[in-house]
Amino acid sequence: MMADTSFSRNEIVGLVVRLTLVSAVTFYSIKWIMERVDPTNKNKKKAKLKAEEQLKKLATAGKCTLAVDKLSEYEIMIAAHIINPQDINVSWYNIAGLENTIQELRETVILPIQRKELFADSQLTQAPKGVLLHGPPGCGKTLIAKATAKEAGTRFINLDVSILTDKWYGESQKLAAAVFSLAIKLQPCIIFIDEIDSFLRARNSTDHEATAMMKAQFMSFWDGLITDPNCTVIIMGATNRPQDLDSAILRRMPATFHISMPNALQRRQILDLILDNEPVADDVDVGKLSRATDGFSGSDLRELCRTASVYRVRDYMRNENKSNGCVEGVAVSRESDDEFHDALRPIIMDDFLVSLNKMKDSKMHCGSLPLQIRLD
Ligand SMILES: Nc1ncnc2c1ncn2[C@@H]1O[C@H](COP(=O)(O)OP(=O)(O)O)[C@@H](O)[C@H]1O
Ligand SMILES: [Mg+2]
Repeated sequence: MMADTSFSRNEIVGLVVRLTLVSAVTFYSIKWIMERVDPTNKNKKKAKLKAEEQLKKLATAGKCTLAVDKLSEYEIMIAAHIINPQDINVSWYNIAGLENTIQELRETVILPIQRKELFADSQLTQAPKGVLLHGPPGCGKTLIAKATAKEAGTRFINLDVSILTDKWYGESQKLAAAVFSLAIKLQPCIIFIDEIDSFLRARNSTDHEATAMMKAQFMSFWDGLITDPNCTVIIMGATNRPQDLDSAILRRMPATFHISMPNALQRRQILDLILDNEPVADDVDVGKLSRATDGFSGSDLRELCRTASVYRVRDYMRNENKSNGCVEGVAVSRESDDEFHDALRPIIMDDFLVSLNKMKDSKMHCGSLPLQIRLD
């Protein structure tokens, strides 16, 4: 009898211990599996680290002291997109030919934020709550936004809208809300949405219900900003296709800046800027180039110069290979970099003309330039 009870007591203890062990193992393995299965988990961790890093940088720059643990999970996802001015390498000086636009942008948007006291007595001189940069591609919209982030002295969130529409994050409405609540915590703050037409294009009946709801929510949060006179959060958008934007969005962006294709004078200024500090031969006539590049955007001009400067390297390689009797295209190791740079000829006018004709040909085939007489 006695042996029986002590045996069963032991058995019970053993059972309890085993049960506890099994449940602990099950608990931790399920937890582990859940973490592995949750597709957002890795991104959430990454976002948290990034957000911590960005907020720390803001704090050391004396700009803002917002702790990560004061933010919700969604705000952290958005905080990972905060831009620090010192990480941006574009300033007003890197933009050519758009002085008027820049001047206007500084006066209507940046100054009212920086010098709030100057504008305090009037509601009318407050910074607009929405700013739209529009115009053909490659003419400097993103460039202007970057320079604004660097120079404005405000917090700047570069909102990647794909995180709002990504199905894995789900809860895109909560993320949309977090964009605004975070911006208000950070204010003065500019929220930049590049290619805004892809996100807030005219709503139509084929929209997925979730998308339509998210857009509606985004607009209503935005209205919240607009109606609050003490809040300095600005939404800045850029688009090549303003006609595709929902009219309700256009209404919320009263300050619009058209960044048009550069004219001859602007092209000259852009070329001067791009070729500044480049080894250019004396025969290069920038004026002639700027007149011959009608219909070229800033980024086309950059490509023109890049191709031209590749020709000089290509010529150098060919000459060298010829003199060494090597097969073309075989890399030759050099003794010193200086020797290499001395041996390279500067970019000559012919390089530009060859590059120009090549680009014009290809543009004509793409239909972005009307047929023209070639320049030889
Ligand atoms: N006004 C400009 N001054 C100097 N560079 C320019 C200018 N406009 C365009 N570029 C060049 O073209 C590139 C693309 O410009 P970007 O601002 O991205 O065009 P988008 O208007 O399509 O946003 C820039 O990185 C820059 O090298
Ligand atoms: Mg752009």
